[in-house]
Amino acid sequence: MRVGIVGSGRLGSPLGRLLAVAGHDVFFSDADPARAAAAARAADGQARGGEPAQAARFGEVVIMAVGWEAFPTVVGELDGMLAGKIVVDPSNPIGERDGAAVVVAVPDGLTSPQYQQHVLGDQVRLVRTFNTKYPNELLELGIAGQRGGARADMPYWGDDDEAKKAVVPLIEDAGFTAIDGGGLSEAL
Ligand SMILES: NC(=O)c1ccc[n+]([C@@H]2O[C@H](COP(=O)([O-])OP(=O)(O)OC[C@H]3O[C@@H](n4cnc5c(N)ncnc54)[C@H](OP(=O)(O)O)[C@@H]3O)[C@@H](O)[C@H]2O)c1
Repeated sequence: MRVGIVGSGRLGSPLGRLLAVAGHDVFFSDADPARAAAAARAADGQARGGEPAQAARFGEVVIMAVGWEAFPTVVGELDGMLAGKIVVDPSNPIGERDGAAVVVAVPDGLTSPQYQQHVLGDQVRLVRTFNTKYPNELLELGIAGQRGGARADMPYWGDDDEAKKAVVPLIEDAGFTAIDGGGLSEAL
């Protein structure tokens, strides 16, 4: 599957690496093109790096691995390019104040991905997953599962059943057992 990754930081880089190793066609991007290129090199496969708009255009599935506070800005910069796409949202409502991580209140009593769906608009087919592990844990558990070891559970949530079905093979290929957590209103 063609996977575009927007945000090649702590989470996007190892997640893309797991998918590239599994044979998916991964296009990394970042505000910093050098970071995207480094993630592509680290992925060991046929992965490429470039601009966020290129990744969004490329991906049948687009993973938005930017920070919570950058998310609306990035969506604005992509200017409608995600409409109709399956978007994977691993983002947790964590911001940064004076260099320290802080929990951010999600507006209007929504769950985090319900709010991201609101930001993205109704035409984006959102699936929430890959948000429950730290990046190093994600990489170690994923590699172990890919090599035939015990598989860790990876929950996923969404309101679009077809989009959820499309994302399950990515979760499984990344080395995890996909667990359907229900709709976005039930998401962690
Ligand atoms: N780290 C974790 O433990 C963890 C665990 C589970 C889920 N998550 C979620 O995964 C997401 C990414 O987290 P992370 O830890 O990987 O953050 P990160 O290391 O800061 O990576 C985010 C990347 O997105 C880039 N970015 C920012 N604005 C951008 C823009 N306008 N266009 C393109 N790229 C942009 C950042 O570039 P700059 O640095 O130049 O701004 C950075 O390289 C977050 O939503 C987080 O909640 C993280």
